Amino acid sequence: MNTSDRHHAASLKPNRRELLGLSAAAAGAWASTALKSAVAADGVEPVRTAVIGTGGRGSDLIRSLTTIEGCDLVAIADDYPPHLEKAAKFAGPQAKPYSDYHKLLNEVKPAAVIIAVPLYLHYQVASDALQAGCDVFCEKTMCHTVDEARKLAEEVDSAKAVFQVGLQRRANPIYQQAAAMVQSGVLGQVTAVKAQWHRNNNWRRPVPVPKGHADWTKLERKLNWRLYRDYSGGLMTELGSHQLDVVNWLLGDIPKRVIASGGVDYWRDGREVFDNVFCLYEYELPPLAGPRPDPNAAALPNGGTSETSLKPYTVRVTYSSLCNNAYEGAAELVMGTKGTLYLTSNKGLFYREKLADDVGWSAKKTADGGSVDASVVTSGKTLKLSNSPWAHRGEPLEIDNLLGDDTRDELVSFLDHVRRDDVQTICDAREGLRDTATVLTANRAIDEQTSLAIPRV
Ligand SMILES: NC(=O)c1ccc[n+]([C@@H]2O[C@H](COP(=O)([O-])OP(=O)(O)OC[C@H]3O[C@@H](n4cnc5c(N)ncnc54)[C@H](O)[C@@H]3O)[C@@H](O)[C@H]2O)c1
Repeated sequence: MNTSDRHHAASLKPNRRELLGLSAAAAGAWASTALKSAVAADGVEPVRTAVIGTGGRGSDLIRSLTTIEGCDLVAIADDYPPHLEKAAKFAGPQAKPYSDYHKLLNEVKPAAVIIAVPLYLHYQVASDALQAGCDVFCEKTMCHTVDEARKLAEEVDSAKAVFQVGLQRRANPIYQQAAAMVQSGVLGQVTAVKAQWHRNNNWRRPVPVPKGHADWTKLERKLNWRLYRDYSGGLMTELGSHQLDVVNWLLGDIPKRVIASGGVDYWRDGREVFDNVFCLYEYELPPLAGPRPDPNAAALPNGGTSETSLKPYTVRVTYSSLCNNAYEGAAELVMGTKGTLYLTSNKGLFYREKLADDVGWSAKKTADGGSVDASVVTSGKTLKLSNSPWAHRGEPLEIDNLLGDDTRDELVSFLDHVRRDDVQTICDAREGLRDTATVLTANRAIDEQTSLAIPRV
C-alpha cells in the first residue's frame, strides 16, 4: 500500500462494519475467519510437516512454513537435484532431503504433507500421501482431470483426512470480507462479474543446458511443464483457478455452463496450451427477495411485481487471461445493483451505486467527525475517458488487507485444522473439485468450439 493509499484507508476507519452496512452476524463471519498466527501458542506439539515438490512454489511455501511456530518441517522431496539442494538451504538442517517422495512417506511418516509438484502429479502424490495416513495441503488446481478430482475428493472423505487446496485468496481478509459483503446483500443482487489475469511474458523458464544437448528436451519439458497439455491445463488451471474459485465462493455455486475461445496465437514457440483465453460463464442463482426498486413499477403491465420472481437469476461472468498485454493485470470486478467490488490480493475497493441511496445506504461519520461516502456510480453520466482507469468513479471505500500474506495465512489455517483434526478447511477437496470442473470445462469448450455444461460435482 503506498502512502496516499494508507492515508486514505486510515481516514475511513474505524468501524468498517458500520461503514459497509454489514450486519453484526455477517461481519462476525469474516472476522472469525481472520487467521491467528500463533498456531502453537497453547503449547501443543508442532505438526510434523513435509513438502513434496520444491520448485518455485514449493520454495515459497517452505520459506513461509519456517516462520510458523506450529510447524516442524521434518522433510522435503524433489526428484530434480538442483531444486532440492536450493530448497534445503531454506528448509534448514532438520528437514531431511529425499529424491523419492515414497521413501519420505515411508521413513518419515509426517503428519501433514504439502504438495507443490506439477499439476499432472497432484492426484497421484496426494493419493499416496493419504494412503500413508497424512493430512494433505495440495496446490491448486486440485487435479489435472475432473475424474481424478472426483476420485481424490472421495479418497479424502473415506480417509477422514484434513485436506486443503492451495487457493490462498480463501485466506485473504480482502476476499473474506468481499464474500461477507456479497452474502449479506451489501452489493444488492450480483448481476455480473468481470475477471481477468493479463500478463506480458512468454511464461517460459530457462533450460540449464544448451539446445542440442541430449537432455535438453527432457529438461525443457520438466521445467516448462506448464506449457504442455500432458502436464498442465495452461492459463485456466494456473491462473484462472484462483479467480473462478473466488467467483464460485462469492456466488455460492458453480456455473451452469461456459462458452469460451482461445488459442496459441502470439507465442508460437511449440507450446501446447493457449496463450490467450476468453470465457463466458453462466451461473443461475436465486434472485434476492422482494420487488426490484423501479420508480415506474406501477405503470408496468404486472405492476412491478413479477410472477417470475422465483425464476433463477442468470449471472454472467467473463474471464480472460493473456500472455501478451499486462494493462489490466489480475483482478475481479463484482457488480451488483447496489455496488461494485474491485478485488485484488492487495487491495479491495467498493464503489456504491446511486441506487443504493434508495435501498438503505447512508454515508457514515468518520472518527474525526467528518463524513465519508462511497463512490456513486451513475452509468453514462460519470463515465468518461480518463488516463487514470478508476478516476471517473470518485472515491471508493478501501478494504484493507489486515495481515498481508495470504500464502502464509493459508498454511497457518491448514496446520491449525490439522492440529484440531478439523476437516472443514477454508478450501476442502469438494471446493477443489468444483474449481477443477469449472476451469477444465472452459478448456474443453475451447477445444470443442461449443458451449458446455459444467459437470454437477
Ligand atoms: N498458489 C499459488 O499462487 C501458486 C503459485 C505458483 C505455483 N503454484 C502451483 O504449485 C505447483 C508447482 O508449481 P511450481 O511453479 O513450483 O513448479 P516448479 O516446476 O517450479 O516446481 C515443481 C517441482 O516439482 C518437482 N517434481 C516433479 N515431479 C516430482 C516427483 N515425482 N517427486 C518429487 N518432486 C517432483 C519438480 O522437480 C519441481 O522442482 C503447481 O501445481 C502450480 O500450479 C501455485
